[in-house]
Amino acid sequence: MTEPVLSLRNISKRFGAVQALSGVDLDVPAGEVLALVGDNGAGKSTLVKTISGVGPPSGGHIRFDGREVHIGRPQDAVALGIATVYQDLSLCDNLDVVNNLFLGREPRPAWGRALHVLDEIEMERRSVELLSTLSVRIPSVRIPVASLSGGQRQSVAIARSLLGDPKVVILDEPTAALGVAQTAQVLDLIVRLKERGLAVLVISHNLADVFAVCDRVVVLRLGRNSGSFDVAAASQEEVVAAITGADTVLSGAGRAGRRAGLPATAGEIGEAGLPGGSGGAADAGDRGHQPEREPDPSRAAGPPDAPGSEGPGSEGPSPKETSL
Ligand SMILES: Nc1ncnc2c1ncn2[C@@H]1O[C@H](COP(=O)(O)OP(=O)(O)OP(=O)(O)O)[C@@H](O)[C@H]1O
Ligand SMILES: [Mg+2]
Repeated sequence: MTEPVLSLRNISKRFGAVQALSGVDLDVPAGEVLALVGDNGAGKSTLVKTISGVGPPSGGHIRFDGREVHIGRPQDAVALGIATVYQDLSLCDNLDVVNNLFLGREPRPAWGRALHVLDEIEMERRSVELLSTLSVRIPSVRIPVASLSGGQRQSVAIARSLLGDPKVVILDEPTAALGVAQTAQVLDLIVRLKERGLAVLVISHNLADVFAVCDRVVVLRLGRNSGSFDVAAASQEEVVAAITGADTVLSGAGRAGRRAGLPATAGEIGEAGLPGGSGGAADAGDRGHQPEREPDPSRAAGPPDAPGSEGPGSEGPSPKETSL
């Protein structure tokens, strides 16, 4: 197997007394879409920030393109070829699509360098070319992005991230605010990124989207790896169980055996302080791990995490199907 373009090992991140990430491993191969899922406060954004240089890890190792790297600043990530599209998209509403795409990297014609003249014709030509190779449909590249739909805005933000010719693209909740048709448009675009050979890492709360376009799902729970699933072989229920911690209750060897890639056995999960038949005790252990502003990580987790719910036989995984 070829080495993943991006590989994280034993990543930890501490904010004062809060241990946000502990011993996290992540492999992002080229030509694949990898989903990073987990409940609120699981550590997804924190992990992405360690990759994008916004919040370097407190410990652990990052390998990129076969060599160990240090990503201390966002510029380090960009220089390596890691592009991140944040949830707020960072688009300028008053500027048109062309100017948003080239914001900060505007080409200048040779004759106009001293005069700071932008090469508008070249920018427009490259914008049209880029958007059409990605099959992004917008009415015109000369309209302000304020007048685009949410899906079109997301598509423009993703297209912009490609201008630096990255190898890894990270998308933070790319479909969170979108309707059905717009979501389909963005999911199509994600598939095209993969077809271009990029490694794509998608943070999502929507398992229907994850199962529609991703090859693998990595689950974080309480700042630790809680499972890695091959989408073709896993069910949404199994992923939900890993998100909520219910799989430690359910897991027999067979269920754990369907996990792929990561050494997240039931025993290791037990070590991580997840409910191994005693939800109350696990919760108490997690208090030290979780910060005060996330006092109840089981908010959306369903019964198995509820303090005092010690009846593993009586509680299955939450039957949530699509949106967490
Ligand atoms: N700057 C910070 N200072 C202190 N604690 C932080 C900081 N950033 C994150 N945390 C804590 O780290 C943990 C992980 O947070 P993170 O934002 O990574 O979760 P998440 O999985 O992205 O959640 P969500 O789905 O709600 O976005 C949380 O308990 C959070 O409170
Ligand atoms: Mg987050």
